[in-house]
Parts: sequence; C-alpha cells; structure tokens
Amino acid sequence: MELVIQPDAECAAWLVASLIAKALREKPHLVLGLATGRTMERVYGYLVQMHREEKLDFSLCRTFNLDEYIGLSPDHPGSYRYYMDHHLFNHINIDHRNTFLPDGTAPDLKAACRRYEETILEFGGIDLQLLGIGADGHIGFNEPLSALRSRTREKALTPSTIAVNSTLFRRPEEMPTRALTMGVGTILDASNIILLVTGSTKSDILAKAVEGPITAMVSASALQLHPHCQVVVDEHAAVKLQAQEYYRWVFDNEPDWAEFRAPCPSRKVLPHHRPK
Ligand code: GLP
Repeated sequence: MELVIQPDAECAAWLVASLIAKALREKPHLVLGLATGRTMERVYGYLVQMHREEKLDFSLCRTFNLDEYIGLSPDHPGSYRYYMDHHLFNHINIDHRNTFLPDGTAPDLKAACRRYEETILEFGGIDLQLLGIGADGHIGFNEPLSALRSRTREKALTPSTIAVNSTLFRRPEEMPTRALTMGVGTILDASNIILLVTGSTKSDILAKAVEGPITAMVSASALQLHPHCQVVVDEHAAVKLQAQEYYRWVFDNEPDWAEFRAPCPSRKVLPHHRPK
C-alpha cells in the first residue's frame, strides 16, 4: 500500500483522475471498477474534462460498478445507474453496453450476483478498481463483519449508512435498506486499487483502515492485503495518520510519483459536475 497526501480534496481528485487517465492511455481496453458517492463526483468531473479537452478516449473501456440499491429502477435519481450516467457515462465516449452495475431489480438477485461475477471474469477481471470509504469503513456496501473473502451478494445496510446516504434522496424514506455489492474478495481480485478519502469526517476511519489491524469490522482494512493499492487523501483526512512523514517522503522521492508531483492545476470543473 502507498499513501499520498494532497493539499485539498480538489488536488486529491485530480491525482486520482490522472492515475485513471494514465492507465486508460496505456491500455485502451481497460476494465475499470467504479464507485459512487460524493467524493467521486470531483473525479468524474475531471475525467469528463480530460475527455473534452485532451481527448481522453473511453471508447474501448469497460466498467463495473461496485454496488447498486435493491429495488430501484435505473431511471430513479437515487439509483447508482442514474448517478453514473449523470456524472460520467453521458459525458464521455463510452459504449453504454460496456457499463455494468449489479442488477438490483432482477427477479432472482442471487442469480444476478453470480452472473455479475461471471461477467467480470469474462472481461478478464478488473484492471483498476476505484474505491471510496463509508463512515463505518465500508468499501462498496461491505458493511461491518462482511467476510474478507465475500463475493457479490445482497447486503443489509447499517442504520448509519442509511442515515448518511438517505440525504442524497429527494425523499429520504425512499432509500432502500438493502443493496447488491461486490464482496471484499471480489474487490481484492482487482489487479490495482485506488482508494480516495477526503475530508475531516473520514480521518478516524482512514487511520483505522490503513494503520489499524485487519478486521472484518472495517472492510477497508482488507486493502492492506492487496499488493497494488494506492490511497490518495487530502490533508483533512490525513490528520490522524501516524506515518505521515514517511508517506510524504515516498511521494516526494520515489521515481514512480515524479510525473504527478507538479502542483495540481486549478482547473475549472464544469458547472454540472461541481461538487455540492
Ligand atoms: C456509498 C457507496 C460507497 C462509497 C461511500 C462513500 O455508501 N456504496 O462505495 O465509498 O458511499 O460515499 P461519500 O463519498 O459520499 O462519502
């Protein structure tokens, strides 16, 4: 695991978008794992900008999202399909048939989960998985005590997740209390992982996830087992980290980070992608 501390949430998102863009330029057929949530809105804003201004090409890219609510139709504004179309897919040259999310409206949810895992394998596995973190340490919707080898399945959401995420619904009571999510094991199968964490409200859980013990109580702590996991955070999220000095030294000195060390450009994010 490598951890990079950026000055603010904008620069952290820009670095993540730049890492994704580099992977896509190196491998146009990239199989990209995607995440939702407020933190990702900036990343998708920068990817749209790179597509428009630098011709970043998504035409051969395939995407798999981490999770989807159970029972929401794709055109429901609270669904993750709607989120992805609105923030990313409708603004880039991706073939929509190459964008996959778990099907939370399937009559047989278990079969839909099995099929999701099979489809990922048919496409050769996920090359790069983007992750955020929930307040309880979840990645995807892997709530506390999710098995560290779990696969895509149905999951009941915790009261704290429901409280946090329901604010994104026009009517909070419309938020489903269950979701389909890739398992922790599914996520760990990705060849590369980028975890993006910003804001002071995430500082405690970030420290537990990256510097605490590996435990099913904090699903993100399983990322410590992954051989190619990059964690990008802002100064606010970093305040509780013990080894900050070392992380800063690695970013400032390791050759692999050289091309990303220039101060992040203060770029204009398109108005409809501006984080709320
Ligand atoms: C949801 C998603 C997670 C995401 C989390 C954090 O619960 N299922 O994948 O990481 O939200 O969201 P935010 O970025 O809004 O804090």
